[in-house]
Amino acid sequence: MQDTPAKKQSTEFTEAVQHRIAALRNSVAFQNYEDVRNHVLRMKDLEAQRSETVLKPSAYWREELENFEYMLDAHPLIIDKLRHHSYHVTGLRVYDYRSNKDSVRELLAEKLEVLVKMGGHDLLVPEPRDMGGFGFEIEGQLYNIDTLKFYEVLIAMQRSSILPDLRKPADRKLVWEIGAGWGGFAYQFKTICSNVTYVIMDFPELFLFSGTYLKTMFPEARVEFFDHGSLGKLLGQWRDIDFLFVPNTFLDDFSPDQVDLAINMVSFQEMTSDQVRAYVEKAHELQSPYLYSLNRDRSPYNRELLSVSNIIAERFLPRQIPVLPVSYPKMLNKLTKARGLRARLKKKKVTRPDYKHIVGCHRMTLNGKHIPGSTGEAAPSLGLPPGEASE
Ligand SMILES: C[S@@+](CC[C@H](N)C(=O)[O-])C[C@H]1O[C@@H](n2cnc3c(N)ncnc32)[C@H](O)[C@@H]1O
Repeated sequence: MQDTPAKKQSTEFTEAVQHRIAALRNSVAFQNYEDVRNHVLRMKDLEAQRSETVLKPSAYWREELENFEYMLDAHPLIIDKLRHHSYHVTGLRVYDYRSNKDSVRELLAEKLEVLVKMGGHDLLVPEPRDMGGFGFEIEGQLYNIDTLKFYEVLIAMQRSSILPDLRKPADRKLVWEIGAGWGGFAYQFKTICSNVTYVIMDFPELFLFSGTYLKTMFPEARVEFFDHGSLGKLLGQWRDIDFLFVPNTFLDDFSPDQVDLAINMVSFQEMTSDQVRAYVEKAHELQSPYLYSLNRDRSPYNRELLSVSNIIAERFLPRQIPVLPVSYPKMLNKLTKARGLRARLKKKKVTRPDYKHIVGCHRMTLNGKHIPGSTGEAAPSLGLPPGEASE
């Protein structure tokens, strides 16, 4: 008996889906995911043997981690569109960037234009289309709030003279990002500063995003995960490694012979005061000349933290770098555009962005001398109106 056309069609669809899933299961991205997951599971096993309470996720992050438990057993179709699932980390949803959202696209394009005037095309890295990359199409490239946030950070780093040194091709540098989320900034940074070893310290679960993403986007890179043996051995070879993933619970064991920049973005604000202090003290102890932070002093839903900028100021001399008069998730409003950015920034009664680009300079290395006020004293002025630097 012959199949009816309708029945044949239905089988065709099923077969097409099965073929697609089988192909995706064999894809480089999915194989990278499986490899990363093995590392993550081993990291979680190691972590279970450790009991340091200060390193346990804050109440804020315990809740977040539970929301993407499914990433521990992700389907190939999920990995194929990994970026669609990173809303768990930075809150951006693909739906918000769908076609025909013209007025929103216009606002993002205007913000991009203002940023390009400040940063130029040299530092601009659009969202790649791979792994479900999404955003508004502007001049043939994709951009979203994450893309512009990272670009803003690169501009702040350029303005504070951190970046030029890190872009020198001859000299290998070590950059340490604490709480790198889905790995978007690491992607941009490594694209413009290729001679850098990028160390990511985070909860192991986050490596399911960042490890899979970066391993797939940089197929030639040497990527290492610390999940066994000695961290010291890996750190001894850091110059030959492109990306190194270290679980947050191994903070005490993290002692490379060089750190050129420590970075934290939209992450200290979600930790406990003790956790932020542990990272700031570690960056100081490792002689990192700079600690860069883009954070609010505290996330509205986090009750376990006092003030990010005050804690940074205990060990690093902070300088606020103005970039835009609005926080990164916001668009520029008409008033801002009409008055000009500089004029608006100078105006006294302006509402300042609650996210601050702060570059902290290591207190002990400024002019080779200990800078007074390093511990237990009031934080110096960040150039902010009174009350803004603390809760
Ligand atoms: C909102 S996400 C931001 C991610 C990324 N920095 C960005 O801006 O796209 C916060 C990040 O901080 C990490 N994080 C939270 N608490 C942490 C801790 N105690 N140690 C290390 N990372 C932590 C989270 O796992 C996550 O990767």
